Amino acid sequence: MSLKYKRILLKLSGESLMGDKSFGISQKKLQHYADEINTIMSLGVELAIVIGGGNIFRGLDAKASGIERAQGDYMGMLATCINGLALQSTLEANGMYTRLVSAIEMKEIAEPYIRRRAVRHIEKGRIVIFSAGTGSPYFTTDSAAALRANEIHADVILKGTRVNGIYNVDPEKDVNAIKFDQVSFEKVISMGLKVMDMTAFTMCQENNVPIVVFDITKKGNLYRVVTGKEEGTLVSG
Ligand code: GTP
Repeated sequence: MSLKYKRILLKLSGESLMGDKSFGISQKKLQHYADEINTIMSLGVELAIVIGGGNIFRGLDAKASGIERAQGDYMGMLATCINGLALQSTLEANGMYTRLVSAIEMKEIAEPYIRRRAVRHIEKGRIVIFSAGTGSPYFTTDSAAALRANEIHADVILKGTRVNGIYNVDPEKDVNAIKFDQVSFEKVISMGLKVMDMTAFTMCQENNVPIVVFDITKKGNLYRVVTGKEEGTLVSG
């Protein structure tokens, strides 16, 4: 089976880890991710994962609780570490080799982020899970995905979501929404399409890192994207 992408940065949202719960981590979702990831590891891809934390805490929502933004963002970063530990455990229970890396030093539970070391892990076939976002407040986990993808020279960012790509209008609000199979960075900006936040998106554009937005909840989709089948929406230069 031919690979379209060899070195991949997979972005998983924290929120999707909830499954049908309203909070926390669904074991069923973790297992789904492990199954999907297992199918591509056997193809010989090099994989790094950035995981979000929205199932536990979202920095942006902090204000409503009277918590200042930067403080809330740090809480969100810690949430990504909890998710990272859970994902690591499930991937390993399914026979995969992993290293959990944190952008905020907490060496008792995760390796500190050292770029060249993370790259060596990936070259050795270990799945590197990047947690704690960028380590700085005011940046989303999408920005962490864009940053790490650039740092490790990933061929692509695969953004696993609940929708099967990018539409001209919100498909949940308009039944006539049209899906793009491919779209340029420029068009995403000129049409105001939602792919990632702008900080993350422009980093990908400036460094020409393609992004594929696809529905990761559907079995086999990750495999289809990686092997070049038409799936989701490809954003490229
Ligand atoms: P190689 O040098 O390629 O053999 O990499 P390695 O990761 O196997 O070597 P190392 O001996 O550094 O790591 C062994 C285990 O300890 C791995 O599971 C690492 O994730 C873990 N580890 C290494 N450094 C740290 C750290 O600072 N904190 C934590 N919590 N774990 C670490």
